[in-house]
Amino acid sequence: MPASDSDQKDRRQNDPWSATFWKGRRVIVTGHTGFIGSWLSLALLELGAEVHGLALPPTSDPSLFAASGLEGRMAHRIVDLRDLDPTRQAVSAAAPEIVFHLAAQPIVRQARQQPVESFATNVMGTVHLLEALRGTDSVRGLVAFTTDKVYRNREWPWAYRESDALGGIEPYGASKVGTEQALDAYRSSYFQGPRRLPVAAIRAGNVVGGGDWAADRLVPDAMRAFAAGEVLVIRRPQAVRPWQHVLEAVGATLLLGRLTLEQPDLADQAWNFGPREEDRQPVGWIADRLASAWPGGRWRHEPDEGGYEAGLLAVSSDKARSLLGWSPRWTVAQAIDSSVEWYRRWHEGEDAAALVREQMRAYGIFGG
Ligand SMILES: NC(=O)c1ccc[n+]([C@@H]2O[C@H](COP(=O)([O-])OP(=O)(O)OC[C@H]3O[C@@H](n4cnc5c(N)ncnc54)[C@H](O)[C@@H]3O)[C@@H](O)[C@H]2O)c1
Repeated sequence: MPASDSDQKDRRQNDPWSATFWKGRRVIVTGHTGFIGSWLSLALLELGAEVHGLALPPTSDPSLFAASGLEGRMAHRIVDLRDLDPTRQAVSAAAPEIVFHLAAQPIVRQARQQPVESFATNVMGTVHLLEALRGTDSVRGLVAFTTDKVYRNREWPWAYRESDALGGIEPYGASKVGTEQALDAYRSSYFQGPRRLPVAAIRAGNVVGGGDWAADRLVPDAMRAFAAGEVLVIRRPQAVRPWQHVLEAVGATLLLGRLTLEQPDLADQAWNFGPREEDRQPVGWIADRLASAWPGGRWRHEPDEGGYEAGLLAVSSDKARSLLGWSPRWTVAQAIDSSVEWYRRWHEGEDAAALVREQMRAYGIFGG
């Protein structure tokens, strides 16, 4: 049955990748020097947005931010969100319409080693940003990244829904629960009524893709080991995680960004975005797939006694599917294979920004 005119119009209205919507729009990306922030900034630039970034310098070398030449393509500001006044000044100077908040200390193991820094950035950094937005009249929407690890984990065999209780029992998850509490408090105390500012929180799963060089993450660890001809060491091969390609997370972020302007009451809440049920896979499965995609790749198991990590973590995307029509475009196998391809070709000397653009087209955006 052919789609009606109104169906087609609805679909266009929901299109997160619409250049018509993003062209010329002033946005802030906090954490633009990081992995997801770089992919998001590159996508927004492709769509014609005016992108302002607030972050610390890249934490890895190499970094996608440097490799893709982002510094010369956007308004790049080094700002430590733990400092209120510089955060206020940078937000006010950028005068954005939509703000994407990704800056964080995002590594579980590092948070266990440095809880003070992690809480300072993830909680007070968010409070400072919210305070800056409270004083900036141009802002009409905020999309903030938290994580699937905010749920009080009961090792249930089913996926967590947005209405389930929050509660981190290790420092990273707990600090992101703090992020959510700050968002809630500002949402209900300051951002209703005349100073309306919808706040969409994104709880995404384990994001994979080319250009992540963080320590203590499976895909970057694997790519480093394989490129050096070493065997990848895995701590918890049985742990099941919701793996998804970075373009799924970027698409969800753009979708919510658009929604904050077009349907603010709907946008103004927390949203899970995860893979399909059949794509929740154990770490060992991912390691097998990574090793078979990289010629000569190998891994072995070395148990780690270093504190709590959930055995099973799954988030339900039912709300995003039914209310926003969202679903992942790629399977986990496609996500892993395209990630390995990205790193392999980058190691062979190909241009990072061109590889990102090519994968955006393969993913089906920008008319590809
Ligand atoms: N990568 C994942 O699998 C994943 C999954 C779910 C949620 N997230 C969330 O997504 C966001 C981005 O993650 P990522 O993987 O790109 O992380 P990343 O470590 O690559 O990037 C983090 C960014 O935050 C910035 N930052 C850190 N501390 C800061 C501070 N005090 N002031 C200003 N900027 C600061 C860094 O400079 C960097 O730009 C984070 O909020 C993370 O918690 C990531």
